[in-house]
Amino acid sequence: MLTVKTTDPALLAPSERFELRAATAADRPALLAMYTTFEPRPGSSGIPPRYGLEQWLDRVQHFPNLLLWSGDRVVGHGILCPQDDTAEVAVFIHQEYRGRGLGTLLLSELVRQARRMGLRRVWGMTELDNVPMLRLAHSLGFVSADDPRQFYLDLDEPHDDWSPERPTA
Ligand SMILES: CC(C)(COP(=O)(O)OP(=O)(O)OC[C@H]1O[C@@H](n2cnc3c(N)ncnc32)[C@H](O)[C@@H]1OP(=O)(O)O)[C@@H](O)C(=O)NCCC(=O)NCCS
Repeated sequence: MLTVKTTDPALLAPSERFELRAATAADRPALLAMYTTFEPRPGSSGIPPRYGLEQWLDRVQHFPNLLLWSGDRVVGHGILCPQDDTAEVAVFIHQEYRGRGLGTLLLSELVRQARRMGLRRVWGMTELDNVPMLRLAHSLGFVSADDPRQFYLDLDEPHDDWSPERPTA
């Protein structure tokens, strides 16, 4: 388990603590609870979907999924979807918790995970008017692709300390 600090703890109530950890199957109800009230839905590029949340989570459950917890509540979800030596990333922070550095924290951890898996590039896609996501990505060194809705980050030399025996959502 990883206990994290936000990038700007001054924005948080003193008692507020967040934990970031790999999702397990047992976390599914808490993850669904986050998405039940998540706005907007659909969000970026159609996810999280308005309908068929369970089916979407089933599709991504075999990938590395990270959950950000506030107490017993899931407030953030990050997914790394590897294909060959690249991976698509997606991050979702519940609207009650946005603007506190948590998205930055989650995406940073997904990038670290990608490095541990030996991947060479992580990339994402969003709408051009999704300023928070584009700012977040660029602040972590992602650059825009030819299609400006897409952003990518090339990684350093690979490490191989990632285990495929990870738990999933
Ligand atoms: C995109 C999202 C994950 C960002 O999460 P967050 O926790 O609010 O992000 P952070 O607080 O870490 O801020 C990230 C950057 O966005 C900026 N930002 C945050 N909210 C903003 C807003 N409403 N308007 C403009 N910029 C904003 C921050 O200033 C920061 O930029 P900086 O590093 O240059 O200062 C969150 O808004 C979200 O879940 N959106 C809906 C789902 C979505 O679009 N996901 C993207 C899928 S690829």
